[in-house]
Amino acid sequence: MSQQQPFPPLPAFSDRERIVRARAAFERLKTRHSCRAFADTPVPREVIEYAIRAAGTAPSGANHQPWHFAAIASGETKRAIREAAEAEERRFYGEDGERPKASGEWLNALAPIGTNAAKPFLETAPWLIACFAQRTGGIAEDGQTQNYYVTESVGIACGMLIATLHEAGLATLTHTPSPMAFLREICRRPANEKPLMIVVVGHPAPGATVPEHALAKKPLEQISSWF
Ligand SMILES: Cc1cc2nc3c(=O)[nH]c(=O)nc-3n(C[C@H](O)[C@H](O)[C@H](O)COP(=O)(O)O)c2cc1C
Repeated sequence: MSQQQPFPPLPAFSDRERIVRARAAFERLKTRHSCRAFADTPVPREVIEYAIRAAGTAPSGANHQPWHFAAIASGETKRAIREAAEAEERRFYGEDGERPKASGEWLNALAPIGTNAAKPFLETAPWLIACFAQRTGGIAEDGQTQNYYVTESVGIACGMLIATLHEAGLATLTHTPSPMAFLREICRRPANEKPLMIVVVGHPAPGATVPEHALAKKPLEQISSWF
């Protein structure tokens, strides 16, 4: 049976105000850039708590909320993640002396970003948020109930997490060392959870740069069609 509540009121903006606000949100989001050099300046835990709360308001298949966020500030845990991630990244880039695990095409696509296997920011940044997708578990987190549209739901939640951290004036990096199974072990998460990404959070280091390649975003005409 479906019990319903009245739809909570939304602010009574004029259409003009809506345009101004939508534009302002776009202008603010446009200033987000992935950061790969972080200062060790601390960030209060409360900021991270609110960002995770914001992520937790995301829509999800059947409202199963199939996500878990492991927030890591411990130096020891960050070091363990850096060591495991760099070991995977050395294999990915072929910096271990073997053939790279990444295809030549993939490495070419990454070349303009300028990344390599070194990930010192995993220790320098004050917070790492390891984002897990729960294949099963439901609202009750019983570990068994089927979840639906898991990757889509957690992707939306991660977007809201990143947007909230940006609103709070912090820099982030979406980091996906591949494969990431080590995260489950380090964060002591169960087998039904798949690590999706690490969101690295903090203040940019003095002199941090952004790759020019990442500044070019497709225009509206290219990313939309209207009927
Ligand atoms: C799912 C996903 C995985 C990513 N993985 C990595 C990564 O492992 N390392 C990295 O340096 N950047 C990673 N990025 C960041 C992208 O390189 C970056 O978003 C892109 O270059 C555009 O730059 P911008 O975020 O500054 O707009 C990832 C982004 C996404 C969405």
